[in-house]
Amino acid sequence: MAVRGLIIFVALLSSLAASCYGVMFHELAHSLTVSSTPSGQANVKAGKDQITVTWALNRSISGVDTSIYREVEAKLCYHLESQKDRPWRKTEEEMARDKTCQFAIVKRPYTSSSDSVTYTIKKDVPTAHYFIRVYVRDGPGGKLIAYGQTTGLDLFVAGISGRSASIDIAASIFSAFSVISLGFFFYLEKKKSKRAT
Ligand SMILES: *[C@@H]1O[C@H](CO)[C@@H](O)[C@H](O)[C@H]1NC(C)=O
Repeated sequence: MAVRGLIIFVALLSSLAASCYGVMFHELAHSLTVSSTPSGQANVKAGKDQITVTWALNRSISGVDTSIYREVEAKLCYHLESQKDRPWRKTEEEMARDKTCQFAIVKRPYTSSSDSVTYTIKKDVPTAHYFIRVYVRDGPGGKLIAYGQTTGLDLFVAGISGRSASIDIAASIFSAFSVISLGFFFYLEKKKSKRAT
Protein backbone atom coordinates (compact mmCIF):
# COMPACT_ATOMS: atom_id res chain seq x y z
CA MET A 1 0.00 0.00 0.00
CA ALA A 2 2.74 2.38 0.98
CA VAL A 3 4.69 1.44 -2.13
CA ARG A 4 1.67 2.13 -4.31
CA GLY A 5 1.17 5.47 -2.65
CA LEU A 6 4.79 6.33 -3.22
CA ILE A 7 4.57 5.38 -6.91
CA ILE A 8 1.51 7.57 -7.38
CA PHE A 9 3.22 10.41 -5.54
CA VAL A 10 6.34 10.14 -7.72
CA ALA A 11 4.24 9.96 -10.90
CA LEU A 12 2.33 13.07 -9.88
CA LEU A 13 5.49 14.89 -8.97
CA SER A 14 7.20 14.05 -12.24
CA SER A 15 4.22 15.14 -14.32
CA LEU A 16 4.15 18.37 -12.34
CA ALA A 17 7.87 18.81 -12.95
CA ALA A 18 7.38 18.13 -16.67
CA SER A 19 4.68 20.78 -16.90
CA CYS A 20 6.78 23.30 -14.96
CA TYR A 21 9.99 22.57 -16.81
CA GLY A 22 8.70 21.99 -20.36
CA VAL A 23 10.94 23.39 -23.06
CA MET A 24 10.53 27.13 -23.47
CA PHE A 25 10.94 28.87 -26.81
CA HIS A 26 13.67 31.22 -25.52
CA GLU A 27 15.74 28.17 -24.53
CA LEU A 28 16.07 27.02 -28.14
CA ALA A 29 19.25 28.00 -29.95
CA HIS A 30 18.56 30.19 -32.96
CA SER A 31 21.24 28.43 -34.96
CA LEU A 32 19.67 27.71 -38.34
CA THR A 33 19.14 30.00 -41.29
CA VAL A 34 16.01 29.29 -43.29
CA SER A 35 15.07 30.60 -46.70
CA SER A 36 12.38 29.84 -49.23
CA THR A 37 11.37 30.11 -52.86
CA PRO A 38 9.14 32.01 -53.32
CA SER A 39 10.31 34.52 -50.72
CA GLY A 40 8.93 37.85 -49.55
CA GLN A 41 5.26 38.40 -50.19
CA ALA A 42 3.83 35.38 -52.02
CA ASN A 43 0.36 34.09 -52.78
CA VAL A 44 -0.15 30.35 -53.07
CA LYS A 45 -3.09 27.98 -53.32
CA ALA A 46 -3.59 25.04 -50.96
CA GLY A 47 -3.59 21.65 -52.66
CA LYS A 48 -1.86 23.06 -55.72
CA ASP A 49 1.19 25.32 -55.35
CA GLN A 50 4.67 24.43 -54.17
CA ILE A 51 7.27 26.06 -52.00
CA THR A 52 10.93 25.14 -51.62
CA VAL A 53 12.42 25.49 -48.16
CA THR A 54 16.19 25.51 -47.57
CA TRP A 55 17.96 25.41 -44.21
CA ALA A 56 21.53 25.29 -42.96
CA LEU A 57 23.55 25.95 -39.86
CA ASN A 58 24.35 29.65 -39.39
CA ARG A 59 28.17 29.58 -39.54
CA SER A 60 28.52 32.96 -37.87
CA ILE A 61 27.26 31.53 -34.58
CA SER A 62 30.10 29.95 -32.65
CA GLY A 63 30.04 27.24 -30.02
CA VAL A 64 27.12 25.28 -31.41
CA ASP A 65 27.32 21.60 -30.54
CA THR A 66 25.68 19.97 -33.55
CA SER A 67 26.60 16.46 -32.40
CA ILE A 68 23.24 16.39 -30.60
CA TYR A 69 21.37 17.60 -33.70
CA ARG A 70 19.49 14.56 -34.94
CA GLU A 71 16.19 15.47 -36.50
CA VAL A 72 14.77 18.49 -38.30
CA GLU A 73 11.14 19.38 -38.76
CA ALA A 74 9.99 22.21 -41.01
CA LYS A 75 6.59 23.70 -40.32
CA LEU A 76 4.19 26.34 -41.56
CA CYS A 77 3.56 28.90 -38.81
CA TYR A 78 0.89 31.57 -38.46
CA HIS A 79 1.93 35.18 -38.76
CA LEU A 80 0.65 37.48 -36.01
CA GLU A 81 -2.12 38.95 -38.17
CA SER A 82 -3.62 35.47 -38.70
CA GLN A 83 -3.54 34.72 -34.96
CA LYS A 84 -5.65 37.68 -33.89
CA ASP A 85 -8.90 36.64 -32.13
CA ARG A 86 -8.00 32.98 -32.68
CA PRO A 87 -6.86 31.40 -29.41
CA TRP A 88 -6.39 28.05 -31.18
CA ARG A 89 -3.45 29.59 -33.08
CA LYS A 90 -1.91 31.37 -30.10
CA THR A 91 1.82 31.64 -29.51
CA GLU A 92 2.94 30.27 -26.12
CA GLU A 93 6.38 30.45 -24.59
CA GLU A 94 6.04 26.84 -23.47
CA MET A 95 6.63 24.71 -26.56
CA ALA A 96 4.23 21.93 -25.58
CA ARG A 97 1.40 24.47 -25.59
CA ASP A 98 2.49 26.61 -28.52
CA LYS A 99 0.07 26.65 -31.43
CA THR A 100 1.98 28.91 -33.83
CA CYS A 101 3.28 26.14 -36.09
CA GLN A 102 0.66 23.55 -36.87
CA PHE A 103 1.42 22.22 -40.33
CA ALA A 104 4.34 19.90 -40.92
CA ILE A 105 6.25 20.36 -44.16
CA VAL A 106 8.85 17.65 -43.60
CA LYS A 107 10.54 15.69 -40.82
CA ARG A 108 13.90 14.06 -41.55
CA PRO A 109 17.37 13.40 -40.08
CA TYR A 110 19.61 16.43 -39.60
CA THR A 111 22.49 16.78 -42.03
CA SER A 112 25.51 18.97 -41.40
CA SER A 113 25.32 20.43 -44.91
CA SER A 114 22.56 22.58 -46.25
CA ASP A 115 19.30 20.74 -46.91
CA SER A 116 16.10 21.55 -48.72
CA VAL A 117 12.66 20.25 -49.56
CA THR A 118 9.99 21.08 -52.11
CA TYR A 119 6.55 20.89 -50.63
CA THR A 120 3.07 21.13 -52.11
CA ILE A 121 0.79 23.06 -49.74
CA LYS A 122 -1.59 20.46 -48.31
CA LYS A 123 -5.31 20.74 -48.90
CA ASP A 124 -6.11 21.11 -45.20
CA VAL A 125 -3.98 24.24 -44.72
CA PRO A 126 -6.46 27.05 -43.98
CA THR A 127 -6.44 30.51 -45.49
CA ALA A 128 -3.89 32.58 -43.55
CA HIS A 129 -0.52 34.32 -43.62
CA TYR A 130 2.40 32.02 -42.79
CA PHE A 131 6.14 31.94 -42.25
CA ILE A 132 8.32 28.84 -42.02
CA ARG A 133 10.21 27.58 -38.99
CA VAL A 134 12.58 24.62 -38.87
CA TYR A 135 13.00 22.89 -35.51
CA VAL A 136 15.89 20.67 -34.44
CA ARG A 137 15.47 17.76 -31.99
CA ASP A 138 18.02 15.66 -30.17
CA GLY A 139 16.52 12.47 -31.53
CA PRO A 140 13.51 11.20 -33.46
CA GLY A 141 10.56 12.72 -31.61
CA GLY A 142 13.05 13.96 -29.01
CA LYS A 143 13.56 17.20 -27.13
CA LEU A 144 13.50 20.50 -29.04
CA ILE A 145 16.92 22.13 -28.96
CA ALA A 146 17.23 24.61 -31.81
CA TYR A 147 15.38 26.37 -34.60
CA GLY A 148 15.59 28.77 -37.49
CA GLN A 149 12.92 30.64 -39.42
CA THR A 150 12.33 32.65 -42.55
CA THR A 151 12.74 36.40 -42.37
CA GLY A 152 10.50 38.52 -44.53
CA LEU A 153 8.42 35.64 -45.86
CA ASP A 154 4.71 36.39 -45.89
CA LEU A 155 3.21 33.33 -47.50
CA PHE A 156 -0.46 33.91 -48.07
CA VAL A 157 -2.22 30.58 -48.52
CA ALA A 158 -5.65 30.58 -50.13
CA GLY A 159 -7.26 27.56 -48.49
CA ILE A 160 -9.71 25.36 -50.31
CA SER A 161 -11.99 24.98 -47.31
CA GLY A 162 -12.88 28.67 -47.66
CA ARG A 163 -16.29 28.27 -49.25
CA SER A 164 -16.71 29.82 -52.66
CA ALA A 165 -19.76 31.93 -53.48
CA SER A 166 -21.25 29.25 -55.75
CA ILE A 167 -21.14 26.66 -52.96
CA ASP A 168 -22.88 29.11 -50.63
CA ILE A 169 -25.60 29.74 -53.21
CA ALA A 170 -26.09 26.00 -53.79
CA ALA A 171 -26.26 25.40 -50.03
CA SER A 172 -28.92 28.08 -49.53
CA ILE A 173 -31.01 26.70 -52.42
CA PHE A 174 -30.83 23.19 -50.96
CA SER A 175 -31.76 24.34 -47.49
CA ALA A 176 -34.70 26.39 -48.83
CA PHE A 177 -35.79 23.36 -50.83
CA SER A 178 -35.63 21.12 -47.77
CA VAL A 179 -37.76 23.54 -45.74
CA ILE A 180 -40.34 23.71 -48.53
CA SER A 181 -40.45 19.94 -48.98
CA LEU A 182 -40.72 19.41 -45.24
CA GLY A 183 -43.71 21.75 -45.18
CA PHE A 184 -45.21 19.96 -48.15
CA PHE A 185 -44.89 16.50 -46.57
CA PHE A 186 -46.25 17.82 -43.30
CA TYR A 187 -49.26 19.15 -45.20
CA LEU A 188 -49.76 15.80 -47.00
CA GLU A 189 -49.50 13.92 -43.74
CA LYS A 190 -52.11 16.15 -42.11
CA LYS A 191 -54.44 15.78 -45.05
CA LYS A 192 -54.06 12.01 -44.90
CA SER A 193 -54.78 11.81 -41.17
CA LYS A 194 -57.83 14.06 -41.61
CA ARG A 195 -59.15 11.72 -44.25
CA ALA A 196 -58.53 8.71 -42.01
CA THR A 197 -60.63 10.09 -39.14
C1 LIG B 1 23.52 34.38 -38.37
O1 LIG B 1 23.74 34.76 -37.03
C2 LIG B 1 24.14 36.10 -36.84
C3 LIG B 1 24.48 36.30 -35.37
O2 LIG B 1 23.38 35.99 -34.56
C4 LIG B 1 23.04 37.03 -37.32
O3 LIG B 1 23.41 38.36 -37.16
C5 LIG B 1 22.75 36.74 -38.80
O4 LIG B 1 21.65 37.52 -39.21
C6 LIG B 1 22.47 35.27 -39.00
N1 LIG B 1 22.37 35.00 -40.43
C7 LIG B 1 21.27 34.61 -41.02
C8 LIG B 1 21.35 34.42 -42.49
O5 LIG B 1 20.23 34.39 -40.40
